[in-house]
Amino acid sequence: MTLSYSVRKFDAVIVGAGGAGLRAAIQLSEAGMKTAVLTKVFPTRSHTVAAQGGVAASLGNSEEDNWRWHMYDTVKGSDWLGDQDAIEFMCKTANECVIELEHYGMPFDRLDNGKIYQRPFGGHMSNFGEKPVRRSCAAADRTGHAMLHAMYQRNVMVNTQFFVEWQALDLVRDAEGEVLGVTAMDMETGEIVVFHAKATIFATGGAGRIYYSSTNAFINTGDGVGMAARAGIPLEDMEFWQFHPTGVAGAGVLITEGVRGEGGILRNSDGERFMERYAPNAKDLASRDVVSRAMVTEINEGRGCGPNKDFVLLDITHLDPATIMKRLPGIHEIGVQFAGVDCLKEPLPVVPTCHYQMGGIPTNYLGQVIVPQGENKAVPVPGFYAAGECACASVHGANRLGTNSLLDLLVFGKSAGETAVKDLKSGMRSHKPLPQDVIDKTLARVDRLNNQKSGADVHETRLTMQRTMQKHAGVFRFKDMLSEGVTKIMEISEQVAQTEIKDKSMVFNTARIEALELDNLIEVAKATIVSANARTESRGAHVRDDAIDCPETPDGRNDKQWLKHSLWYRDGNRLDYKPVQMKPLTVETVELKKRAY
Ligand code: FUM
Repeated sequence: MTLSYSVRKFDAVIVGAGGAGLRAAIQLSEAGMKTAVLTKVFPTRSHTVAAQGGVAASLGNSEEDNWRWHMYDTVKGSDWLGDQDAIEFMCKTANECVIELEHYGMPFDRLDNGKIYQRPFGGHMSNFGEKPVRRSCAAADRTGHAMLHAMYQRNVMVNTQFFVEWQALDLVRDAEGEVLGVTAMDMETGEIVVFHAKATIFATGGAGRIYYSSTNAFINTGDGVGMAARAGIPLEDMEFWQFHPTGVAGAGVLITEGVRGEGGILRNSDGERFMERYAPNAKDLASRDVVSRAMVTEINEGRGCGPNKDFVLLDITHLDPATIMKRLPGIHEIGVQFAGVDCLKEPLPVVPTCHYQMGGIPTNYLGQVIVPQGENKAVPVPGFYAAGECACASVHGANRLGTNSLLDLLVFGKSAGETAVKDLKSGMRSHKPLPQDVIDKTLARVDRLNNQKSGADVHETRLTMQRTMQKHAGVFRFKDMLSEGVTKIMEISEQVAQTEIKDKSMVFNTARIEALELDNLIEVAKATIVSANARTESRGAHVRDDAIDCPETPDGRNDKQWLKHSLWYRDGNRLDYKPVQMKPLTVETVELKKRAY
């Protein structure tokens, strides 16, 4: 089969139509830029749709709040690995971004006075960590769904051009390292196109499908992260993965933290509210890494529930049924459908489940992709921007606070779009000629799949990778398991390069798409396990058995040696490190201290 391709020109191409991609596209299209958005699924089915509990902003609609408190909570939540300039920018810009969304028509729940309804979420506190505060702006338990619809409609209004059911394949970079667009495949016809753009924005979401048990959609295969790694961009802080405390046991489906925000309580097999022992102040609303570890400890120590004692219970039976049906209608439905439980009458069975990648493509708070160059210098990659879960701004550091994800994609989607508009308007970006070999590596990948006659099965290989990641790099990590995990994932990576698909047709071939996605997942898995194996401390969501507990390193965190971001390079499978930005933009540094809730 001879593969051909065509070229299409745009001012900007955005890969991904979740919250970050849609928000960036609004910025570009409103500025009159010819903007293409490539998406594997219809935009309103992007994974943002699954975000339930809310978007964080210190509006203070129910009680006093302040962006400085939000900033403090985010730095603390990140276990001080977050960059404080980006965190200040995000928390300060939050209110404006939420109000903008309201003006796009987002149907937030309302208080009696008409203001946006806000609920408490884990780790969000008033007055620098004193007591929980209502900061998460919610549309029942369907906030992401409402957000996508509001932003998609806005994009239709400003004439963004959508390419639906297109799989992006590779980043196009020239010899100088400038980014000139992406190659992509129309999933329906198999047509391959070079999207030649002056600005390329990745907003491809997360890669939670590297794990076996995940709240993530099947589409979350780390496409942007994999493409960036193959194009020589390092990946930042990939050892940090969030396990959401409440996935439905056995199904992985998300039960929003908003359930605990509305008063839900976690109980062990003795009926004990065990979080009182682990986080006496914040209890069930401690930060996610703390709650997930407490749950796993309860299970490991024999206080799990069910015949196999392998989950705990989330109890809301004491709440007013009318409140549950008003504020958490989707959770009631999920309980019935995925656990066979009516949560008005019985508690829900829950376990920590992979939910979010804190690391990703390194960016600054302007949405520019930043790579190290020379001694202590980091420079933007011309023409390349990223936002949302695929990017690492880095506002979440070692652990993200709930509802800061929707905020991240709004704030940094907007700033990536804004920066691209500025670069385009200044004339800094033009359609540089495409290199001769622009499509070669893409065609080689597609060609390999067409010609591979014997090799590993895609589905089996992916499953082996997911099981390996789950076992070797889960909620608690162990020195020997990690190093064994590195060996196994490197072996699986070799199998990925040899996978065979039986159906070679180019038309609507989901087997081919799954094989192409696996190329991306494996890069994420390698970056994760190699970075986790190297970081010999415990910090945020990364907790290892061999991180020494001594007065200098409380809880195994070792600031002297490890207060730094990791950077994984695909070439040579090597690691480098860069400093954490401890200096905010305008306010005082949130000084290092022990993290307790
Ligand atoms: O629990 C939730 O509703 C999830 C929110 C988030 O991940 O930010």
